[in-house]
Amino acid sequence: MSPVEVFPPSIPPHVPPELVVDFDFVHPKGAERDLFLALKRLHEGPDIFWTPRYGGHWVVTRGDDIRRILSDYETFSSEAVFIPRRERPRIVPLEVDPPEHMAYRKLIAPAFTPKAIAQWTDLARTLAIELIDGFYARGECEFMSEFAFQLPIIIFMKMCDLPLEDRPQLLRWVGMNIRPEKPGDEQESFRHMNEYIRNLMAQRRSQPGDDLVSQILHSEVFGRPLNDDEAFGLINGLLGGGLDTVASTMGWIARFLAQSPQHRRQLIEEPDLLWNAIEELLRRFSVPNIARVVAKDTVYKGVFMKKGEQVLLSACLHAMDEACFERPLDVDFRRRNARNHSTFSQGPHRCPGATLAVAELKIFLEEWLRRIPDFWIRPGECVETATGIVHGVKYLPLVWDPQASTS
Ligand code: HEM
Repeated sequence: MSPVEVFPPSIPPHVPPELVVDFDFVHPKGAERDLFLALKRLHEGPDIFWTPRYGGHWVVTRGDDIRRILSDYETFSSEAVFIPRRERPRIVPLEVDPPEHMAYRKLIAPAFTPKAIAQWTDLARTLAIELIDGFYARGECEFMSEFAFQLPIIIFMKMCDLPLEDRPQLLRWVGMNIRPEKPGDEQESFRHMNEYIRNLMAQRRSQPGDDLVSQILHSEVFGRPLNDDEAFGLINGLLGGGLDTVASTMGWIARFLAQSPQHRRQLIEEPDLLWNAIEELLRRFSVPNIARVVAKDTVYKGVFMKKGEQVLLSACLHAMDEACFERPLDVDFRRRNARNHSTFSQGPHRCPGATLAVAELKIFLEEWLRRIPDFWIRPGECVETATGIVHGVKYLPLVWDPQASTS
Protein backbone atom coordinates (compact mmCIF):
# COMPACT_ATOMS: atom_id res chain seq x y z
CA MET A 1 0.00 0.00 0.00
CA SER A 2 1.33 3.47 -0.87
CA PRO A 3 2.09 6.09 1.81
CA VAL A 4 -1.09 8.08 1.05
CA GLU A 5 -3.43 5.13 0.48
CA VAL A 6 -6.08 5.15 3.22
CA PHE A 7 -8.87 3.17 1.57
CA PRO A 8 -9.34 -0.59 1.75
CA PRO A 9 -8.78 -2.06 -1.75
CA SER A 10 -12.12 -2.17 -3.50
CA ILE A 11 -13.36 -4.25 -6.45
CA PRO A 12 -17.13 -4.10 -7.11
CA PRO A 13 -18.80 -7.34 -8.34
CA HIS A 14 -19.60 -5.96 -11.83
CA VAL A 15 -15.88 -5.45 -12.63
CA PRO A 16 -14.54 -8.46 -14.56
CA PRO A 17 -11.32 -9.87 -13.00
CA GLU A 18 -9.40 -9.48 -16.29
CA LEU A 19 -9.99 -5.72 -16.08
CA VAL A 20 -8.44 -5.34 -12.62
CA VAL A 21 -4.94 -3.85 -12.52
CA ASP A 22 -3.28 -2.73 -9.30
CA PHE A 23 -2.25 0.77 -10.38
CA ASP A 24 -1.51 3.60 -7.95
CA PHE A 25 -1.55 6.87 -9.92
CA VAL A 26 0.23 8.78 -7.13
CA HIS A 27 3.07 6.23 -6.97
CA PRO A 28 3.27 4.48 -10.34
CA LYS A 29 5.84 1.70 -10.41
CA GLY A 30 9.10 2.83 -12.09
CA ALA A 31 8.29 6.56 -11.66
CA GLU A 32 11.57 7.18 -9.83
CA ARG A 33 13.42 6.38 -13.09
CA ASP A 34 11.04 8.10 -15.54
CA LEU A 35 7.49 9.03 -14.61
CA PHE A 36 6.19 9.35 -18.17
CA LEU A 37 7.70 6.05 -19.30
CA ALA A 38 6.27 4.37 -16.20
CA LEU A 39 2.80 5.61 -17.21
CA LYS A 40 3.34 4.74 -20.87
CA ARG A 41 3.56 1.09 -19.84
CA LEU A 42 -0.19 1.20 -19.18
CA HIS A 43 -0.63 1.07 -22.97
CA GLU A 44 0.53 -2.55 -22.80
CA GLY A 45 -2.61 -3.47 -20.81
CA PRO A 46 -6.36 -3.08 -21.38
CA ASP A 47 -7.74 0.17 -22.85
CA ILE A 48 -9.94 0.51 -19.79
CA PHE A 49 -9.22 -1.08 -16.42
CA TRP A 50 -10.25 -0.90 -12.78
CA THR A 51 -7.74 -0.25 -10.02
CA PRO A 52 -8.72 -0.99 -6.42
CA ARG A 53 -6.62 1.96 -5.20
CA TYR A 54 -8.14 5.05 -3.52
CA GLY A 55 -11.48 3.35 -3.01
CA GLY A 56 -11.43 1.96 -6.56
CA HIS A 57 -11.71 3.78 -9.89
CA TRP A 58 -11.52 3.26 -13.64
CA VAL A 59 -8.47 4.23 -15.70
CA VAL A 60 -8.79 4.98 -19.43
CA THR A 61 -5.50 4.63 -21.31
CA ARG A 62 -6.18 5.45 -24.97
CA GLY A 63 -6.03 8.96 -26.42
CA ASP A 64 -9.24 8.83 -28.43
CA ASP A 65 -11.20 7.64 -25.39
CA ILE A 66 -9.64 10.27 -23.13
CA ARG A 67 -10.62 12.99 -25.61
CA ARG A 68 -14.13 11.66 -26.07
CA ILE A 69 -14.81 11.23 -22.35
CA LEU A 70 -13.50 14.71 -21.48
CA SER A 71 -16.02 16.21 -23.91
CA ASP A 72 -19.01 13.96 -23.10
CA TYR A 73 -20.29 15.70 -19.99
CA GLU A 74 -23.70 14.05 -20.20
CA THR A 75 -22.24 10.60 -19.60
CA PHE A 76 -19.12 11.62 -17.68
CA SER A 77 -19.78 14.40 -15.20
CA SER A 78 -17.25 16.80 -13.66
CA GLU A 79 -18.92 16.64 -10.24
CA ALA A 80 -15.65 15.33 -8.66
CA VAL A 81 -12.53 15.86 -10.79
CA PHE A 82 -10.01 14.66 -8.22
CA ILE A 83 -9.41 11.11 -6.99
CA PRO A 84 -10.18 10.40 -4.20
CA ARG A 85 -13.27 12.62 -3.84
CA ARG A 86 -12.74 15.54 -1.48
CA GLU A 87 -15.14 16.66 1.28
CA ARG A 88 -15.41 20.38 0.53
CA PRO A 89 -17.54 22.89 -1.40
CA ARG A 90 -17.29 22.11 -5.11
CA ILE A 91 -14.63 23.86 -7.16
CA VAL A 92 -16.22 26.30 -9.56
CA PRO A 93 -16.49 26.19 -12.57
CA LEU A 94 -14.34 23.02 -12.64
CA GLU A 95 -16.86 20.74 -10.91
CA VAL A 96 -20.02 22.14 -12.50
CA ASP A 97 -21.55 20.57 -15.61
CA PRO A 98 -23.19 22.45 -18.49
CA PRO A 99 -25.49 24.28 -18.79
CA GLU A 100 -24.92 25.70 -15.27
CA HIS A 101 -21.15 25.66 -15.91
CA MET A 102 -21.23 28.52 -18.42
CA ALA A 103 -22.81 30.97 -15.97
CA TYR A 104 -19.79 30.60 -13.65
CA ARG A 105 -17.20 30.40 -16.39
CA LYS A 106 -18.39 33.79 -17.68
CA LEU A 107 -17.38 35.35 -14.36
CA ILE A 108 -13.69 34.56 -14.82
CA ALA A 109 -13.51 34.76 -18.63
CA PRO A 110 -12.74 38.54 -18.78
CA ALA A 111 -9.50 37.98 -16.82
CA PHE A 112 -8.22 35.57 -19.46
CA THR A 113 -8.87 37.33 -22.77
CA PRO A 114 -5.72 37.94 -24.86
CA LYS A 115 -6.08 41.68 -24.09
CA ALA A 116 -6.24 41.06 -20.34
CA ILE A 117 -3.28 38.67 -20.47
CA ALA A 118 -1.24 41.21 -22.46
CA GLN A 119 -1.32 43.48 -19.37
CA TRP A 120 0.77 40.92 -17.50
CA THR A 121 3.29 39.86 -20.10
CA ASP A 122 5.61 42.90 -19.80
CA LEU A 123 5.79 42.33 -16.06
CA ALA A 124 6.42 38.61 -16.60
CA ARG A 125 9.31 39.41 -18.93
CA THR A 126 10.87 41.92 -16.52
CA LEU A 127 10.53 39.41 -13.71
CA ALA A 128 12.04 36.57 -15.75
CA ILE A 129 15.09 38.75 -16.55
CA GLU A 130 15.47 39.85 -12.91
CA LEU A 131 15.28 36.28 -11.66
CA ILE A 132 17.89 35.02 -14.12
CA ASP A 133 20.17 38.02 -13.51
CA GLY A 134 19.92 37.26 -9.78
CA PHE A 135 21.57 33.84 -10.08
CA TYR A 136 23.36 33.93 -13.46
CA ALA A 137 26.85 34.79 -12.11
CA ARG A 138 26.72 31.83 -9.72
CA GLY A 139 26.58 29.45 -12.66
CA GLU A 140 23.94 27.35 -10.94
CA CYS A 141 20.44 27.39 -9.50
CA GLU A 142 17.78 25.08 -8.13
CA PHE A 143 15.39 25.74 -10.98
CA MET A 144 12.10 24.92 -9.24
CA SER A 145 12.47 27.16 -6.17
CA GLU A 146 14.50 29.91 -7.84
CA PHE A 147 12.58 30.24 -11.11
CA ALA A 148 9.59 27.98 -11.82
CA PHE A 149 7.87 28.54 -8.49
CA GLN A 150 8.58 32.28 -8.77
CA LEU A 151 7.70 33.64 -12.22
CA PRO A 152 4.17 32.29 -12.86
CA ILE A 153 3.24 32.40 -9.17
CA ILE A 154 4.17 36.05 -8.71
CA ILE A 155 2.18 36.97 -11.83
CA PHE A 156 -0.84 35.05 -10.58
CA MET A 157 -0.56 36.59 -7.10
CA LYS A 158 -0.46 40.05 -8.66
CA MET A 159 -3.59 39.25 -10.70
CA CYS A 160 -5.32 38.46 -7.41
CA ASP A 161 -3.44 41.19 -5.47
CA LEU A 162 -2.25 38.69 -2.86
CA PRO A 163 0.69 39.66 -0.61
CA LEU A 164 3.87 38.13 -2.08
CA GLU A 165 5.01 37.02 1.38
CA ASP A 166 2.09 34.51 1.34
CA ARG A 167 3.68 32.70 -1.64
CA PRO A 168 5.62 29.98 0.28
CA GLN A 169 2.69 28.93 2.45
CA LEU A 170 0.20 28.96 -0.44
CA LEU A 171 2.56 26.84 -2.53
CA ARG A 172 2.98 24.40 0.35
CA TRP A 173 -0.77 24.04 0.90
CA VAL A 174 -1.60 23.72 -2.81
CA GLY A 175 1.26 21.20 -3.17
CA MET A 176 -0.11 19.06 -0.32
CA ASN A 177 -3.42 18.79 -2.17
CA ILE A 178 -1.95 18.22 -5.62
CA ARG A 179 0.85 15.79 -4.72
CA PRO A 180 0.06 14.44 -1.23
CA GLU A 181 2.98 12.74 0.51
CA LYS A 182 1.28 11.27 3.54
CA PRO A 183 -2.25 10.41 4.75
CA GLY A 184 -4.13 13.52 5.81
CA ASP A 185 -2.19 15.93 3.55
CA GLU A 186 -5.28 16.75 1.46
CA GLN A 187 -7.38 17.44 4.55
CA GLU A 188 -4.68 19.58 6.13
CA SER A 189 -4.28 21.49 2.87
CA PHE A 190 -8.02 22.13 2.78
CA ARG A 191 -8.09 23.39 6.39
CA HIS A 192 -5.40 25.97 5.62
CA MET A 193 -6.85 27.00 2.25
CA ASN A 194 -10.32 27.29 3.75
CA GLU A 195 -9.15 29.67 6.45
CA TYR A 196 -6.99 31.67 4.03
CA ILE A 197 -9.71 32.06 1.41
CA ARG A 198 -12.49 32.88 3.91
CA ASN A 199 -10.27 35.63 5.43
CA LEU A 200 -9.44 36.92 1.97
CA MET A 201 -13.14 37.01 1.06
CA ALA A 202 -14.00 39.00 4.20
CA GLN A 203 -11.17 41.44 3.55
CA ARG A 204 -12.01 41.99 -0.16
CA ARG A 205 -15.71 42.36 0.58
CA SER A 206 -15.01 45.21 2.97
CA GLN A 207 -12.15 46.75 0.95
CA PRO A 208 -12.61 45.81 -2.70
CA GLY A 209 -9.91 46.55 -5.25
CA ASP A 210 -9.73 45.99 -9.00
CA ASP A 211 -8.12 42.55 -8.64
CA LEU A 212 -9.57 39.22 -9.78
CA VAL A 213 -10.72 38.14 -6.30
CA SER A 214 -12.63 41.41 -5.75
CA GLN A 215 -14.19 41.11 -9.21
CA ILE A 216 -15.39 37.58 -8.44
CA LEU A 217 -16.79 38.54 -5.05
CA HIS A 218 -18.79 41.40 -6.49
CA SER A 219 -20.22 39.52 -9.46
CA GLU A 220 -23.67 38.01 -9.94
CA VAL A 221 -24.83 34.64 -11.14
CA PHE A 222 -28.39 33.67 -12.19
CA GLY A 223 -29.46 37.27 -11.39
CA ARG A 224 -28.31 37.22 -7.74
CA PRO A 225 -25.02 37.80 -5.85
CA LEU A 226 -22.73 34.78 -5.54
CA ASN A 227 -23.18 32.89 -2.28
CA ASP A 228 -20.22 32.14 -0.01
CA ASP A 229 -19.67 28.58 -1.22
CA GLU A 230 -19.76 29.64 -4.87
CA ALA A 231 -17.28 32.47 -4.27
CA PHE A 232 -15.07 30.12 -2.23
CA GLY A 233 -15.21 27.47 -4.99
CA LEU A 234 -14.22 30.00 -7.66
CA ILE A 235 -11.28 31.41 -5.70
CA ASN A 236 -10.13 27.94 -4.60
CA GLY A 237 -10.24 26.80 -8.24
CA LEU A 238 -8.16 29.74 -9.42
CA LEU A 239 -5.54 29.16 -6.73
CA GLY A 240 -5.36 25.47 -7.62
CA GLY A 241 -5.17 26.19 -11.35
CA GLY A 242 -2.83 29.14 -11.15
CA LEU A 243 -0.30 28.08 -8.54
CA ASP A 244 1.17 24.81 -9.76
CA THR A 245 0.51 23.83 -13.36
CA VAL A 246 2.73 26.34 -15.18
CA ALA A 247 5.58 25.87 -12.68
CA SER A 248 5.40 22.08 -13.01
CA THR A 249 5.38 22.31 -16.81
CA MET A 250 8.40 24.65 -16.73
CA GLY A 251 10.22 22.10 -14.58
CA TRP A 252 9.71 19.27 -17.09
CA ILE A 253 10.71 21.52 -19.99
CA ALA A 254 13.88 22.74 -18.23
CA ARG A 255 14.83 19.17 -17.34
CA PHE A 256 14.38 18.08 -20.95
CA LEU A 257 16.32 21.01 -22.45
CA ALA A 258 19.15 20.55 -19.94
CA GLN A 259 19.63 17.09 -21.44
CA SER A 260 19.08 17.95 -25.10
CA PRO A 261 21.59 20.40 -26.61
CA GLN A 262 20.18 19.88 -30.11
CA HIS A 263 16.69 21.03 -29.05
CA ARG A 264 18.17 24.06 -27.25
CA ARG A 265 20.11 24.97 -30.37
CA GLN A 266 17.07 24.54 -32.59
CA LEU A 267 15.04 26.96 -30.45
CA ILE A 268 17.83 29.54 -30.53
CA GLU A 269 18.52 29.23 -34.26
CA GLU A 270 14.89 28.94 -35.40
CA PRO A 271 12.83 31.23 -33.15
CA ASP A 272 9.84 30.93 -35.52
CA LEU A 273 9.45 27.38 -34.24
CA LEU A 274 8.81 28.57 -30.70
CA TRP A 275 4.98 28.52 -30.71
CA ASN A 276 4.81 25.01 -32.09
CA ALA A 277 7.70 23.94 -29.85
CA ILE A 278 5.73 25.06 -26.79
CA GLU A 279 2.70 23.00 -27.88
CA GLU A 280 4.99 20.03 -28.49
CA LEU A 281 6.57 20.37 -25.04
CA LEU A 282 3.12 20.77 -23.44
CA ARG A 283 2.15 17.56 -25.25
CA ARG A 284 5.25 15.50 -24.47
CA PHE A 285 5.32 16.60 -20.82
CA SER A 286 1.57 16.67 -20.27
CA VAL A 287 1.02 17.21 -16.55
CA PRO A 288 -2.67 16.82 -15.53
CA ASN A 289 -4.38 13.78 -14.06
CA ILE A 290 -8.07 14.63 -14.05
CA ALA A 291 -11.16 12.58 -13.35
CA ARG A 292 -14.79 12.31 -14.32
CA VAL A 293 -17.75 10.64 -12.60
CA VAL A 294 -19.96 8.21 -14.49
CA ALA A 295 -23.26 10.15 -14.63
CA LYS A 296 -25.52 7.15 -15.46
CA ASP A 297 -24.98 3.41 -15.76
CA THR A 298 -23.08 3.13 -19.03
CA VAL A 299 -21.50 0.56 -21.31
CA TYR A 300 -18.41 2.16 -22.83
CA LYS A 301 -16.43 0.08 -25.35
CA GLY A 302 -18.07 -3.04 -23.91
CA VAL A 303 -17.18 -2.17 -20.30
CA PHE A 304 -20.04 -1.70 -17.83
CA MET A 305 -19.48 1.35 -15.64
CA LYS A 306 -21.81 2.16 -12.79
CA LYS A 307 -23.20 5.60 -11.99
CA GLY A 308 -21.03 7.38 -9.41
CA GLU A 309 -17.77 5.58 -10.26
CA GLN A 310 -14.73 7.77 -10.98
CA VAL A 311 -12.67 7.56 -14.16
CA LEU A 312 -9.05 8.72 -14.25
CA LEU A 313 -8.01 10.54 -17.44
CA SER A 314 -4.29 11.10 -17.52
CA ALA A 315 -3.62 13.60 -20.31
CA CYS A 316 -0.11 12.19 -20.88
CA LEU A 317 -1.61 8.83 -21.89
CA HIS A 318 -3.34 10.65 -24.75
CA ALA A 319 -0.06 12.43 -25.57
CA MET A 320 1.97 9.20 -25.60
CA ASP A 321 -0.51 7.16 -27.66
CA GLU A 322 0.93 6.03 -31.03
CA ALA A 323 -2.58 5.97 -32.45
CA CYS A 324 -2.78 9.76 -31.94
CA PHE A 325 0.83 10.93 -32.37
CA GLU A 326 3.53 9.37 -34.53
CA ARG A 327 6.66 8.44 -32.49
CA PRO A 328 4.97 10.00 -29.44
CA LEU A 329 7.99 9.83 -27.13
CA ASP A 330 10.11 11.95 -29.49
CA VAL A 331 10.12 15.72 -29.07
CA ASP A 332 9.69 17.11 -32.57
CA PHE A 333 9.31 20.90 -32.74
CA ARG A 334 7.97 20.56 -36.29
CA ARG A 335 5.25 18.06 -35.38
CA ARG A 336 2.15 18.96 -37.39
CA ASN A 337 -0.48 17.93 -34.85
CA ALA A 338 1.39 18.96 -31.68
CA ARG A 339 -1.59 21.11 -30.59
CA ASN A 340 -4.00 18.16 -30.51
CA HIS A 341 -3.03 17.26 -26.94
CA SER A 342 -5.38 17.15 -23.93
CA THR A 343 -3.00 18.98 -21.60
CA PHE A 344 -5.50 21.84 -21.29
CA SER A 345 -8.39 19.31 -21.41
CA GLN A 346 -11.13 19.14 -24.05
CA GLY A 347 -14.73 20.29 -24.18
CA PRO A 348 -16.43 22.88 -21.97
CA HIS A 349 -13.80 22.88 -19.20
CA ARG A 350 -10.85 23.51 -21.50
CA CYS A 351 -8.41 25.58 -19.45
CA PRO A 352 -9.16 29.32 -19.59
CA GLY A 353 -5.59 29.94 -18.33
CA ALA A 354 -4.02 28.35 -21.43
CA THR A 355 -3.20 31.67 -23.14
CA LEU A 356 -1.50 32.96 -20.00
CA ALA A 357 0.35 29.67 -19.50
CA VAL A 358 1.66 29.63 -23.08
CA ALA A 359 2.70 33.32 -22.82
CA GLU A 360 4.66 32.59 -19.64
CA LEU A 361 6.33 29.52 -21.14
CA LYS A 362 7.33 31.57 -24.19
CA ILE A 363 8.84 34.32 -22.02
CA PHE A 364 10.70 31.73 -19.97
CA LEU A 365 12.20 30.06 -23.06
CA GLU A 366 13.11 33.33 -24.80
CA GLU A 367 14.74 35.01 -21.82
CA TRP A 368 16.41 31.89 -20.44
CA LEU A 369 17.94 30.71 -23.72
CA ARG A 370 19.08 34.26 -24.58
CA ARG A 371 21.11 34.34 -21.36
CA ILE A 372 21.84 30.68 -20.70
CA PRO A 373 21.97 28.89 -24.06
CA ASP A 374 23.83 25.93 -22.57
CA PHE A 375 22.99 24.35 -19.24
CA TRP A 376 23.05 20.92 -17.66
CA ILE A 377 21.80 19.00 -14.67
CA ARG A 378 24.48 19.28 -11.96
CA PRO A 379 26.67 16.19 -12.39
CA GLY A 380 26.14 13.55 -9.73
CA GLU A 381 22.72 14.91 -8.72
CA CYS A 382 19.31 13.33 -9.28
CA VAL A 383 16.25 15.20 -10.45
CA GLU A 384 13.32 14.52 -8.09
CA THR A 385 9.79 14.23 -9.42
CA ALA A 386 6.40 13.40 -7.91
CA THR A 387 2.84 13.06 -9.11
CA GLY A 388 -0.77 13.24 -8.04
CA ILE A 389 -3.26 15.61 -9.70
CA VAL A 390 -0.33 17.23 -11.57
CA HIS A 391 2.98 15.60 -12.55
CA GLY A 392 5.59 17.79 -10.90
CA VAL A 393 9.34 18.30 -10.56
CA LYS A 394 10.47 18.76 -6.96
CA TYR A 395 14.19 19.36 -7.35
CA LEU A 396 16.11 20.36 -10.46
CA PRO A 397 19.71 21.51 -9.91
CA LEU A 398 21.03 23.23 -13.05
CA VAL A 399 24.55 24.44 -13.86
CA TRP A 400 26.08 26.53 -16.68
CA ASP A 401 29.27 28.38 -17.43
CA PRO A 402 28.77 32.05 -16.47
CA GLN A 403 31.91 33.01 -18.40
CA ALA A 404 30.47 31.70 -21.70
CA SER A 405 29.48 34.55 -24.04
CA THR A 406 25.79 35.07 -24.82
CA SER A 407 24.33 37.14 -27.63
C1 HEM B 1 0.47 24.61 -18.15
C2 HEM B 1 -0.45 25.18 -17.38
C3 HEM B 1 -1.84 24.67 -17.19
C4 HEM B 1 -2.36 23.43 -17.40
C5 HEM B 1 -1.64 22.19 -17.91
C6 HEM B 1 -3.77 23.48 -17.05
C7 HEM B 1 -4.64 22.42 -17.17
C8 HEM B 1 -6.02 22.52 -16.98
C9 HEM B 1 -6.95 21.46 -17.23
C10 HEM B 1 -6.58 20.07 -17.70
C11 HEM B 1 -8.19 21.93 -16.95
C12 HEM B 1 -9.53 21.24 -17.15
C13 HEM B 1 -9.79 20.15 -16.15
C14 HEM B 1 -11.03 19.37 -16.51
O1 HEM B 1 -11.39 19.24 -17.70
O2 HEM B 1 -11.63 18.84 -15.58
C15 HEM B 1 -8.03 23.29 -16.49
C16 HEM B 1 -9.09 24.10 -16.10
C17 HEM B 1 -8.90 25.31 -15.51
N1 HEM B 1 -7.72 26.01 -15.39
FE1 HEM B 1 -5.91 25.43 -16.12
N2 HEM B 1 -4.07 24.73 -16.61
C18 HEM B 1 -2.93 25.50 -16.68
C19 HEM B 1 -2.81 26.83 -16.32
C20 HEM B 1 -3.79 27.56 -15.71
C21 HEM B 1 -3.61 28.90 -15.21
C22 HEM B 1 -2.33 29.71 -15.30
C23 HEM B 1 -4.82 29.26 -14.65
C24 HEM B 1 -5.21 30.53 -13.95
C25 HEM B 1 -4.43 31.52 -13.65
C26 HEM B 1 -5.74 28.17 -14.84
C27 HEM B 1 -7.06 28.17 -14.44
C28 HEM B 1 -7.96 27.18 -14.75
C29 HEM B 1 -9.39 27.26 -14.41
C30 HEM B 1 -10.09 28.40 -13.70
C31 HEM B 1 -9.97 26.08 -14.89
C32 HEM B 1 -11.44 25.66 -14.79
C33 HEM B 1 -12.15 25.86 -16.11
C34 HEM B 1 -13.54 25.28 -16.21
O3 HEM B 1 -13.87 24.38 -15.44
O4 HEM B 1 -14.29 25.75 -17.06
N3 HEM B 1 -5.09 27.16 -15.49
N4 HEM B 1 -6.71 23.63 -16.54
